Order: sequence, then structure tokens, then C-alpha cells
Amino acid sequence: MFVDHLQLTDFRSYESVDLGLDSGVTTFVGANGQGKTNLVEAIEYLSTMSSHRVATEVPLVRSGAARAVVRARVQAGLDDPRQLTLELEISPGKANRAKLNRSPLRHAREIIGVVRTVVFSPVDIAVVKGDPSERRRFIDDLSIARWPRLAGVRSDYERVLRQRNTLLKSLSGRLRGGPPPSDAEATLDVWDTHLARVGGELLEARLTTLADLAPHVSKAYADIAPANNDAAAEYRASADLEFTNQAEDGSVHGALRANLSAALAAGMIERRAEEIQRGVSLVGPHRDDIALSLGMLPAKGYASHGESWSFALALRLGSFHLLRADGVEPVLVLDDVFAELDSVRRERLASGVRGAEQVLVTAAVGADVPELLAGRRFRVADGEVVADA
Ligand SMILES: Nc1ncnc2c1ncn2[C@@H]1O[C@H](COP(=O)(O)OP(=O)(O)OP(=O)(O)O)[C@@H](O)[C@H]1O
Ligand SMILES: [Mg+2]
Repeated sequence: MFVDHLQLTDFRSYESVDLGLDSGVTTFVGANGQGKTNLVEAIEYLSTMSSHRVATEVPLVRSGAARAVVRARVQAGLDDPRQLTLELEISPGKANRAKLNRSPLRHAREIIGVVRTVVFSPVDIAVVKGDPSERRRFIDDLSIARWPRLAGVRSDYERVLRQRNTLLKSLSGRLRGGPPPSDAEATLDVWDTHLARVGGELLEARLTTLADLAPHVSKAYADIAPANNDAAAEYRASADLEFTNQAEDGSVHGALRANLSAALAAGMIERRAEEIQRGVSLVGPHRDDIALSLGMLPAKGYASHGESWSFALALRLGSFHLLRADGVEPVLVLDDVFAELDSVRRERLASGVRGAEQVLVTAAVGADVPELLAGRRFRVADGEVVADA
């Protein structure tokens, strides 16, 4: 899949831009702050209706304008000439509107996943160096990219968790005035059941995705890094998952979901007194983490800056290869990657991504992008995007 035409109106710094694109490698070069990331962010937003840079839509609309429009034409594949046109109108504070092949969609969110993207950008370093929540979001987002219905499972889980926490908090408050009434425990049983059911489904998706992803990440890392390149990713659950049917090699089979729900329920019973005392849910996917390691050492706290960077990149490249193995050919976006890598890693990365159907690269310094990725080049300056002669 590749984007062959991109048109922006009042998106970020762009009043209006109209850009023909090709399959293969395209590089956007320009000084800092000229609008390179803004361009690829528009494609990311069209793909996921979320951006790696912001949590709200206000910054996506050009300052002073009321709404932004992103239009793209997408070709299904190199040897599949079918085309789709997509249009997304972003109006902060109002419902967005989307069209597919010029027909309005009932809900703008239906446009999610029509264009598939994998975006690597500097903020991804947080997946390696940041809090567990960053790694949970990473694995959930990737699972959602594979199975879109999981977006609903994740929001159900968050809702059940909030409600259970509210109950636990009130129980913990009442504890100070004597033991909680017995009917409160019965209500808690109900929430335990909900949390275990939805949590089991979320956990199943995460474990399956991580098991499928891990070999791609190890390979992507070893392909980029010439030394100390034994990268691994392992799930760390807050519940005791020993009796699940996760095989030695990390693969998962069979009636996993029911076993996971049972493990979560057992974990909640075991820690009920502590949960009531502290007034929060201590067992479940919201307390889990993914341990990333290089050789014998954890990546977090030990890996060098370049190694952490390479690991973050390997997680995205691994995701790209996993989606490809699933039968999806995503657009690969490498935002500001090359400046951070040494020359060996640059060359290795370039030769690894050359075969993708479409790679969009941004760089402040054109010379940082290896020759191997020659492709087409655009200069980005003063709100204009101009093809290099
Ligand atoms: N909503 C907006 N309205 C107007 N201008 C905006 C808006 N959002 C961002 N900008 C401007 O866009 C510019 C940033 O663009 P972008 O992040 O694409 O730069 P870049 O070329 O990727 O730079 P770098 O090389 O530093 O990564 C900033 O100057 C910023 O002020
Ligand atoms: Mg940028």
C-alpha cells in the first residue's frame, strides 16, 4: 500500500499543500521547524486518528483556522492498481467528518485502518526509557492495528477499572470507620468478574502480539546493531500466569483467554485485603510491563543512548514486519531517525527498509540519509514543499 497523493488544507503550519508521491523511498529535507514532521503526521492521523505528538486535536489545525482537511489517494499495492480516496476534516470540539471514495462515512472513526502506517519518531525513545505505561500503550496500539475490535476491549477495560477503583476507594475510606459492610464485598465480586473477563481478553491479545512480535524485534535489532545485539522483549504480568498455556518458546495456544481470566480472578482474590486497604486495583493488565533487555542487562537504565534509540527503532521495524507477515503492507515513516545513528547503523537501516512499498523519511540534514535511500527528495521550507530537481 502506498499514498500517491496528499493534499492538506490548514493542517498544522500548512495553509495549502498538494503533493504527488510515489512508492519507494521519499525523503523530506529541511531546516528545523519547517514542517517536515507535520507532513508525515497528516498521514499518520489519517491512518489512526491519533498523533504521536499530541493528545488533542487543537494543535493539528492551523492557528487561526477553524478546521483542517487531510486528503489522500492510496494505491492498494505495487501490482494492485486499485485506488481509494480518503478525506478527513478535523474540527476540534466538534465531530470530525470523513469520506471514503467521496462518500461520507457515518462515523469518522470508520476511516481508521484504511491506510496502514508504522511511524518511528524521536518520541518513541520513551517506549524504551519511560514508564511501563508507554510499553503498555505500544503493545495495545499494535494489537489494535492487527485487530481493530480490540480498541473497544481496551476502552471497556479502562471503564471497568475506573468503576472498580471507585468502589475500592470508598471501601478503603469506610475501613477506617470499621469493617466494610458485607454487601460491598458482593458488589466487588461483580466488578472482579468484569475485570477478569475483559482483562483476560486484553491480556490474550497482548501476549499473542508480543509472542509474534518478539522474533521480529530481535531480528530487526541484530540487523541494525553490529555488536551486543541480543535484544529480547518479555511480558511481566502483575498476576501469576504460570498455569496459562504459554509454551516455553513464548508462543500461545488454545483456550488461553479463559485461563488468563481465571488467573486474574485468582490474583484479585489473593490480594483483596490489600486492594481494599489501599483503595486501588493491584492486579490486571494495567499493572503489567514489558521487560526489554540487551544481552544479560535490562535496556532501561543500562542501554546507551544509541542502543536505546536502536531498540526503539527495532520495536517499530519489528511491528512493520509483523504487520507484513499478517498480510498488510504498511507505509513506513522514519521521522528524524538517521541523525541519531552512527554510520554503520544508518547503512544497515537503509538496506533493511529499502524493500518496503513506501518509506517516508524526514531529515534536517540531507547528507545524514544514506545514498542507498536516494529515492525522491523534497525540500521543505517556508510552508512549501518543492521537489528537488
Ligand atoms: N497548528 C499550527 N498552526 C501553525 N503553525 C503550527 C501549528 N502546529 C505547528 N506549527 C508550526 O510548525 C512548525 C513545526 O513543524 P514540524 O514539526 O513539521 O518541523 P520539522 O520540519 O519536522 O522540524 P524538526 O527538524 O525540528 O523536526 C513549528 O514552527 C510550529 O510553530
Ligand atoms: Mg520533525
